[in-house]
Amino acid sequence: MKKTTLALALAAWVSLPALAQQPAQQVEVLHWWTSGGEAAALKVLKSNLEKDGIGWKDSPIAGGGGEQAMTALRARVSAGIPPTAVQMLGFDIQDWAKDGRLANLNDLAAKEGWDAVVPAPLQRFSKHAGQWVAVPVNIHSTNWVWANKEVLAKAGVTAEPKTWDEFIAAAESVQKAGFIALAHGGQPWQEATIFDGVVLATGGVDFYRKAFIELDPAALASPTMEKVFHRMSQLRKLVDKDFSGRDWNVASGMVISGKAGFQIMGDWAKGEFLNAKKVPGKDFACFRLPGTQGMVSFNSDQFAMFLVKGADKVAAQQKLAAAIMDKGFQSAFNVVKGSVPARTDVSDKDFDDCGKKGIKDLAEAARKNTLVGSIAHGHAVPASLKNAFYDVITRHFNGQIDDKKAVAAMVAAARQ
Ligand code: GAL
Repeated sequence: MKKTTLALALAAWVSLPALAQQPAQQVEVLHWWTSGGEAAALKVLKSNLEKDGIGWKDSPIAGGGGEQAMTALRARVSAGIPPTAVQMLGFDIQDWAKDGRLANLNDLAAKEGWDAVVPAPLQRFSKHAGQWVAVPVNIHSTNWVWANKEVLAKAGVTAEPKTWDEFIAAAESVQKAGFIALAHGGQPWQEATIFDGVVLATGGVDFYRKAFIELDPAALASPTMEKVFHRMSQLRKLVDKDFSGRDWNVASGMVISGKAGFQIMGDWAKGEFLNAKKVPGKDFACFRLPGTQGMVSFNSDQFAMFLVKGADKVAAQQKLAAAIMDKGFQSAFNVVKGSVPARTDVSDKDFDDCGKKGIKDLAEAARKNTLVGSIAHGHAVPASLKNAFYDVITRHFNGQIDDKKAVAAMVAAARQ
C-alpha cells in the first residue's frame, strides 16, 4: 500500500511539471494593430480567446496600412513557419489563397451560417474558389474627416463644410487662426487614403469605378483626373512642414490635442480619439469628406487562416475563426476600433454617433450601389497595381510631378 502511494506520489511529482509546461491551445496572430486605439480593439479578441482557454501569441508588425506586415509574412511563409492567422486586406487574401497557403473553413462556415450574414462585397474576398479562407472582423471606410471642435470654433468655423470649396475655405480659416489645418503623415498609404475620398468627391462613384476598378484609359486620362490632382495640390498647402514620414496615429494625435483642425483618414482614427477619452459630437466631429456623402469607399480587415499542421493547432484556429464571427464580439470590437461590424445582423445600439452614422451610410451605399472598394487599402486593385498608384500619388504630393504629369503617370501605371 505504502509502496503504491509512494509510486503515485512520485509519478505525480514527475508528471506535474510536465503537465504545467504542456502548451495550451494557442494561436499566433500576425497583425499591424500597434497604435493605442488598435491595440485596445485587439485586446477584446485576445481576452475573449483567453477566456476560452486559447493562448495568444502576438506578432505585431508596426506600419499602418500593413505593407511591412506583408513583407514580414512573406519571410515567415518562405521559412515554412506561417502564423495561425494574419490580418489581411482584400486582394492580398486572394493572392495567398491562389498560392494554396490558406485553410478551408467551409465546414465551420456552413455550421455557423456565415453565407447568410457576411455582406457579399466582403465574401468576394473571404472566399476563394468557393472556399472560405478568411474571416472578416470589420468594415472600415476611408472617406472620413475628423475634426477638433474647439479648434474649429476658435477659427470661426461654425458649420460643417458641405462642399469641397467650403472644406478648403474652412481649412484655410483654421490655418489663418494659427493652427495646422490638415494633420497628415507623409507616407504613401496615407496619401492614397486621402486620394480615395478625393476621387469620389471629384468624379463620383461612376468615375471611381471606371478609372480605378475598370482601369479605363479614357477615365484615367480625363480632365476629371486632372481635377483630382489639382485638389490633392490644394490639400498639400494645408499640411505642416514636418509632415514627411509621420505615422497616422501621430497625425490623429495632433487633432486630438488641438494642434490641428482636421485629418482625412479612415475610421480607425476614431479609435485614437476614443482611446484618448474624447467624445464624438462634443470634442470631435466626424463627417464624410465633403462631396462624398452617400458614397463609401470601404476596406475590411480579415484574418486569413493559414494551413497549419496538427489537430491542436487546427482546433485552435477554428476557435479563433468562430470567436471573430461571434455577434457579441463583432459589436464590442468595432465599437472600440471605429469600424462597422462585418455581419449584417449586429445591432447599432452600442455604437456612438459616428459609429451609427458609419453603419447607416454603409447600408445606404450598399442599397444605392455607391459602395466601392478602397484603392489605398487593397480593395480596388491587386497589390502590384496599388503600389504603382501609391508611387504616383506620393510623387505628386511631394511636388516631384505636377498635376498634368501625374495624370500621365497614372495612365502609364495602370497599363503595367
Ligand atoms: C488599415 C486597416 C485598419 C487600420 C489602418 C491603420 O489598412 O484596415 O484596420 O488599422 O490600416 O493601421
